[in-house]
Amino acid sequence: MRIVSLLENKDKEKRVAITPEIAKKYILLGINVSLPEQYGNHLGFNDKEYKDVGVDLVKDDKDLFDKADIFAQLDLPSNEKLLNLKENQSIVGVLNPYLNKEVLDNLVKKNINNFSLELLPRITRAQSMDILSSQANLAGYKAVIDSFANFEKAIPMMMTAAGTVPAAKVLVIGAGVAGLQAIATAKRTGAIVYATDVRMASKEQVESLGGKFLMVEGSENLETKGGYAKETSDDFKKKQEELLSETLKKIDIVICTALIPGKKAPIILKSNMIDNMQSGSVIYDLAAVQGGNTAYTEVDKIIEKNGVKILGESNILNKLPISASNLYAKNMFNFVSNLYDKENKKININLEDEIIEKTLIK
Ligand code: NAI
Repeated sequence: MRIVSLLENKDKEKRVAITPEIAKKYILLGINVSLPEQYGNHLGFNDKEYKDVGVDLVKDDKDLFDKADIFAQLDLPSNEKLLNLKENQSIVGVLNPYLNKEVLDNLVKKNINNFSLELLPRITRAQSMDILSSQANLAGYKAVIDSFANFEKAIPMMMTAAGTVPAAKVLVIGAGVAGLQAIATAKRTGAIVYATDVRMASKEQVESLGGKFLMVEGSENLETKGGYAKETSDDFKKKQEELLSETLKKIDIVICTALIPGKKAPIILKSNMIDNMQSGSVIYDLAAVQGGNTAYTEVDKIIEKNGVKILGESNILNKLPISASNLYAKNMFNFVSNLYDKENKKININLEDEIIEKTLIK
């Protein structure tokens, strides 16, 4: 059994799916590892480190296509690369099944097994494989750091002989994995933190991190059985707008993370709400790629409206690709180990295992 990884398109994706530390773990488990030369160079994971743990480094991708049982990836490889795949080979990655439906349907017809890690069930056994959590956690942290870097005032309260600098006020919209890390990071830096969500369960989590929860009065709990948010009603949207409009006037930094799985992100900050914010405020929209939580968000641009900056990037994880790769590679290893039949040294697609069944694209 052999796992390989093709080079990603580095203009869009700087993370790697196999780090030297994790390559060693595959080899100890009895899985061979092949990678293209210079695979992790851009992150300081040089060829020697991979070679030293027993990775087979190849010059030509052809060797990878010939030998692979599993391709460990971030994005789905290009159509040109996919043409080289053979029956019974498997791809594991963030395959974006809604966007890549047609390509994936064709791969399924060619009897290629495609496992998409964003479809993992949020169950205890899958926690160590949960790429959504490991990456969202880093994204929440980095969004706060980047917002602070764009904010032209200090964050913590400082009492000096020359006068007092007030603490910055941060509002986090959506208190899931990214949002909770954003709250923790902002709190640690000394900001006063507010947060809101449509799921009632998040109130306690926000408060345990020292945030003030803003509750839309009279609202029902909009949580699905799987723990995700439901779409809100027009009545809820109106009440949420009233609540946030008032709060936003005194907020310095907003971190937006609100998502609804498989749907466009809800627009929560309308143009009039942003227009009423103080000049100098910063909004970081982590939902930018899914359409954005603000009326002004544009991917990979800093938009400025009345002195308010609105930021949102296509891949914030490219700004901390080493930490992100370390966690992603561990998630990938835990997923592949669960797929691997050690006795027979091959993958075992056991559809009675919820983790395998839910991630396999059919
Ligand atoms: P997500 O990335 O899909 O959404 C982010 C947050 O935005 C969510 O908290 C959601 O409720 C909120 N949101 C959506 N629409 C909103 C609106 N209109 N206004 C305000 N907030 C809105 O969520 P994420 O971070 O993936 O977490 C989803 C669930 O999964 C949570 O319940 C979390 O606790 C759970 N989870 C469970 C894990 C496990 O292994 N058991 C691991 C990680 C998360």
